[in-house]
Amino acid sequence: MNNHKNEMEGNFCYDPEFKYTHDNPYHDKLGVFDSFVLRDEEAEKNVGKWKTDIFKNDYPIEVEIGTGYGDFMHEYCQNNPHVNFIGLDHRFKRSFALAKKLDKLENKNFKYMRARGERLEFMFADSEIQSLYYFFPDPWPKNRHNKKRLFQQPFLNAAYKVLAPGGILYVKTDHDGYYEWMKDHLKNETRFEVLVDSRNLREEHPEHFLSQFTTKFEKIFLSQGTKIKSIVLKSKK
Ligand SMILES: C[S@@+](CC[C@H](N)C(=O)[O-])C[C@H]1O[C@@H](n2cnc3c(N)ncnc32)[C@H](O)[C@@H]1O
Repeated sequence: MNNHKNEMEGNFCYDPEFKYTHDNPYHDKLGVFDSFVLRDEEAEKNVGKWKTDIFKNDYPIEVEIGTGYGDFMHEYCQNNPHVNFIGLDHRFKRSFALAKKLDKLENKNFKYMRARGERLEFMFADSEIQSLYYFFPDPWPKNRHNKKRLFQQPFLNAAYKVLAPGGILYVKTDHDGYYEWMKDHLKNETRFEVLVDSRNLREEHPEHFLSQFTTKFEKIFLSQGTKIKSIVLKSKK
């Protein structure tokens, strides 16, 4: 398997043997922001040391998978100076655009990683994360592509492992199929308490934290009249 195919295979990224590729010009361009950007395997060198060596404080670690253009990350970091936020996305060009925007923020209470969500357990130690955010993930709607969805058994195992006791996983999606898929994967799951399970977040839980902000993709879905589905899981650890 060549390197490019290696990274394209969604499921294979869970494999301990997985290696990132570096054949995109934005890999080097992102190096300009090395005070807060970690690229690929750099993201896996701080397991268990995020608070002590990277942020050098004891604020909670909060991680967003699939930051996209970073609307949530940008707003949340500014409004919550006392968190250590880590955003990650695997698209190079999008990461570069977001890094340029983040660079302008004065309070750098965050890191940004060009990395894959499947690598969660290789980036963080047991119980290192307080909150995990996963908003409007690529739905991979075709049956033959479903297996590329991040939310599946290895992801739930990793999320349980890296979340602290009582830590929370927040999910929002526009996609009915992916929402049902997540619920199917939660059927026999006993390690999490389901705090929210909604087919219409904005109507059923207007006061919830998740209804208080709108990501870039969410704006598009709302303008199309799509109902926002949401799942919030609390670790029983
Ligand atoms: C539909 S966009 C949503 C972006 C943003 N969360 C929002 O709501 O505006 C999905 C994002 O997730 C990223 N993504 C998809 N699969 C990923 C993975 N396995 N690891 C990291 N990022 C991923 C994509 O590159 C894309 O930027």
